[in-house]
Amino acid sequence: MANVVKGEQLYEGKAKKVYATNDPDLVIVDYKDDATAFNGEKKGTIVGKGVINNRMTNFMFKKLEEAGVPTHLVEELSERETLVKKVSIVPLEVIIRNVAAGSFSKRMGVPEGKELLTPILEFSYKNDDLGDPFINDYYALALGLATKEEIDTIAKYAFAVNDFMVKFFKGVGVDLIDFKIEFGRTSDGTIILADEISPDTCRFWDSKTHEKLDKDRFRRDMGGVEDAYQEMMKRVLGE
Ligand code: TMP
Repeated sequence: MANVVKGEQLYEGKAKKVYATNDPDLVIVDYKDDATAFNGEKKGTIVGKGVINNRMTNFMFKKLEEAGVPTHLVEELSERETLVKKVSIVPLEVIIRNVAAGSFSKRMGVPEGKELLTPILEFSYKNDDLGDPFINDYYALALGLATKEEIDTIAKYAFAVNDFMVKFFKGVGVDLIDFKIEFGRTSDGTIILADEISPDTCRFWDSKTHEKLDKDRFRRDMGGVEDAYQEMMKRVLGE
């Protein structure tokens, strides 16, 4: 976008930096290769991850807009940078699970890979000091994290994201096991999908071999991390 000028860095998170622009309603996100797990305890680098996550997120957000889910995407600026609408993030990690894995399997004693009878919507309170604790709607309402209307909108969009993505990934030979998304409020209070959709934030298993093609390879020291990200990039973007 010719008229947008990159300004000062506003924020640096674990995987992205955010910069101001000359437009108060727009910011630039810059995706890093840094990887963390277990609330930042484990640190590393996944070479090329920033480029893959930026491009995959933008690809998915475009498709989701077409499917009726509003997102913060404005325009991809470069391999790692994207112009997005400025939002204040709703402090909820919104998780959908189709198949048991990860913290659900541990908490519920259900083996990883067991298909769930219906998708699960789950919330965590986005708070690093507390380790993003598991909460429910009542916690969110009681603590003023979101209103009832906002929670209803978020749930509706989250299931729409799941419906779209399960089908999309099935088409490229990948089972969408679970994922985490985040929403933001624009300056006029509209709820839109923000943050990212990538192998950092989703569990992707090859439909035939059940090979993991996501960040669990980093979290669990499985090796082949970069190859898995590249493979997902190839399946989604054909390159
Ligand atoms: P979990 O099974 O560890 O709770 O993870 C559920 C999904 O959320 C999984 O697809 C990975 C993703 N996730 C994040 O994106 N960020 C996080 O900090 C965590 C813990 C999980």
